[in-house]
Amino acid sequence: MSTTITPDALTPPRLVVTTGGRPVPGSRAPGWLQTADFLRSPTSFLERNRRRYGDIFSAKLHGLATGRMVMVADPKLIEEVFKADPYMLKAGEAAYTTIAPIGGPNSLLVLDAPEHLEDRRLLLPPLHGERLRAYADVIAEETDRSVATWPIGKPFPMRRPMADITLDVIMRAVFGLERGGRYDALRQALVDSTSGETAISLGLMVPAFRRDLGPFRAWSEFEAAVARTDALLYAEIADRRKADDLEQRPDILSMLILARRKNGTPMTDHELRDELVTLLLAGHETTATGLSWTMELLYRHPAVLAKLRASVAAGDEEYLDAVIHEALRVRPVIPFVFRVLTRPIQLGGYALDAGVTVVPAVHLVHRREELYPQSAEFRPERFLGRSPGTYEWLPFGGGTRRCIGASFALMEMRVVLQRVLAQTMLEPAGKRPEKTRRRAFTLVPARGAMTIRRR
Ligand code: HEM
Repeated sequence: MSTTITPDALTPPRLVVTTGGRPVPGSRAPGWLQTADFLRSPTSFLERNRRRYGDIFSAKLHGLATGRMVMVADPKLIEEVFKADPYMLKAGEAAYTTIAPIGGPNSLLVLDAPEHLEDRRLLLPPLHGERLRAYADVIAEETDRSVATWPIGKPFPMRRPMADITLDVIMRAVFGLERGGRYDALRQALVDSTSGETAISLGLMVPAFRRDLGPFRAWSEFEAAVARTDALLYAEIADRRKADDLEQRPDILSMLILARRKNGTPMTDHELRDELVTLLLAGHETTATGLSWTMELLYRHPAVLAKLRASVAAGDEEYLDAVIHEALRVRPVIPFVFRVLTRPIQLGGYALDAGVTVVPAVHLVHRREELYPQSAEFRPERFLGRSPGTYEWLPFGGGTRRCIGASFALMEMRVVLQRVLAQTMLEPAGKRPEKTRRRAFTLVPARGAMTIRRR
């Protein structure tokens, strides 16, 4: 394995993060204070600490992975982390508490090596190459259907229709179902189980809150919605197993039923259920947020919007791609990813203990001035004639856990924007650019990208 991260047994530690030696620099404030600061605004927290301590700094954050964090803003060090032996880095175990109540114990998001690598190999093919092109028509159709219902002259948060479009797209791609009957029931059950009420978010993060609080029945309603989703999913899986045209069907469920592990075993019903829910969860809100930020940034840069309209009308996709890359750079939906060390390692001249959580700080990499001059500005031109560097542009994370839906998401954003721009005249509904608001681990436009459609 070509990595400069080396297990401690091979290279004795020079500096130690938590036990003796010179620690990784970082705030000495109590953990609860750092956590509160981080939750209030992850991006300000990251920027301030980087200014004070440099490209690698420590932090104590309660409730996030192991809490003993080492944040990394240097692409070279992040490359080392992403290229390291997957057995040395876990992400699944730390995500288990939050994800398992809905994604289940077999979700790709909660697995670690070796099971993680095995299942990833099964999930990747339906989301790549030729398969992707088959979904473009579905995306265009869902966008047109939604645009036809947008009000004229009345403000609305763009995030709402975007979330509807991306949910329908991922449901149709995953199941290959048409509207009506089981599709509608499943869609409703999914919306009910992910509506993100505060009480549910709290319960997902802190198991002690997984109960009804007095007269508030949010948690049992959540459990009932998950049970409804499961019943519908298992019924669909059972029906699909009986289909005799699985080989011809372009949907992800049919492909996963046919997929085999290296040892020849197929996925069980429970495994299928968990991976389907994972794709639906991971694939819809994220893309809707990426699209909402893109629209919000376009509203604030009328010259870019005009140039984009003209290029889309001329059938050119180069500028459109640059706009999408730049939007995901300046407003990454997920501002950091994390890996928990299973063994001590050397990184950037420090020896980090097992149990430390290494955090590639996506937001900080995207704001490096030497890579992106005037990095806080939205300037799609910087991506014209230039592909983003693998470790310099990280909206989809990296390494063996890089988002498996990245190609799908980029294609979806491209088609949605093309269709929307071709059919609508949109303006921002407020004078000021929208601030960033944290929603679980994602950063969303604070007011949902308020929009007015003109005739
Ligand atoms: C703009 C849209 C999206 C963004 C910004 C995004 C971002 C991410 C990020 C940052 C990760 C973690 C990567 C890491 O830890 O290194 C991730 C993982 C993942 N994403 Fe996405 N994602 C998007 C869309 C999608 C879509 C459309 C799908 C499914 C079709 C999807 C499925 C997944 C899955 C299953 C994982 C877990 C991968 C693993 O653990 O191996 N995502 N995504």
